[in-house]
Amino acid sequence: MFCKKPPQNLESSPMKKDEAIVRVPATTANLGPGFDCLGVALQLYNRIFVCRENELQESHSPMVEESAGLFFKRTRKRFPFSLKITGRVPRSRGLGSSVTVRAGIIVALNHLAGDLLTLAECLNLVVDLEGHPDNAAPAFLGGFAACSDDIVFREPVDPKLKFITVIPEIEIQTNKARQALPEKILLADAVHNIRNSSIITAAFASHQYALLENAFQDRLHQPYRKKLIPQFDRVLEAATKKGALGAFLSGSGSTLMALSLGNKKECAAIQSAMCRPLQQAGISTSTMILSADNKGIQFVE
Ligand code: HSE
Repeated sequence: MFCKKPPQNLESSPMKKDEAIVRVPATTANLGPGFDCLGVALQLYNRIFVCRENELQESHSPMVEESAGLFFKRTRKRFPFSLKITGRVPRSRGLGSSVTVRAGIIVALNHLAGDLLTLAECLNLVVDLEGHPDNAAPAFLGGFAACSDDIVFREPVDPKLKFITVIPEIEIQTNKARQALPEKILLADAVHNIRNSSIITAAFASHQYALLENAFQDRLHQPYRKKLIPQFDRVLEAATKKGALGAFLSGSGSTLMALSLGNKKECAAIQSAMCRPLQQAGISTSTMILSADNKGIQFVE
């Protein structure tokens, strides 16, 4: 996967050679119709601390083992390491938490190994692990990303565009949410999604965010996944009734996301309207109003 205009986000490589701390943004993928293609990085982060060790530490989680194993296999270099993950990206909520872990480990290990891989090669490893690029590309590059199999188009997102993020206390594993999808789809539904995805890409590429109104409607995955989230339709309708540009399922869920160009008060009104149906159904919910992250993955001191 290749980005023609990558940001210089890994210029400030840390001084220490035996430890690295990497900050990785959460991401919202699909943006409704852009299934497996579109994503935006958010100002919500995990930090992955990796320290090179002399001896094997206690065993890591399967996701950590798998990510490190692929990095070591590709680079033919292997060493023991310890790892700590901190941050606010909730797990199994459609905000790209697995990418924060996979990307953080691979970029940190790459630094500790002496920068054997380029940033694009690290991104490719994470895409291989994830199976789709729409969380990984914006997490690495920041901003909005549109991905084909080989190319990423990325563009910074204006901070005036707000991402109203409603996170129900419902865990959804991406592999389960993918099993809910049909193997075949109707041509009319494919055309509907291609149209809306094209408008979304044009809106982000040109910074004409008003074009996003009504463009988030999807017919490929949300109709099949919404049964996993009680009150799904009511939450999305509440957002648009209160003036949001539109709303959609973030990644494979359970987070529900609305976008708005409104002021603080208008965004807060959208936020409460979205939370109300979930609260009425007795589902506890956390919520944030976020801006996009335009820096992507970063080393931090
Ligand atoms: N595009 C992926 C999916 C994203 O919807 O399954 C998972 O976060």
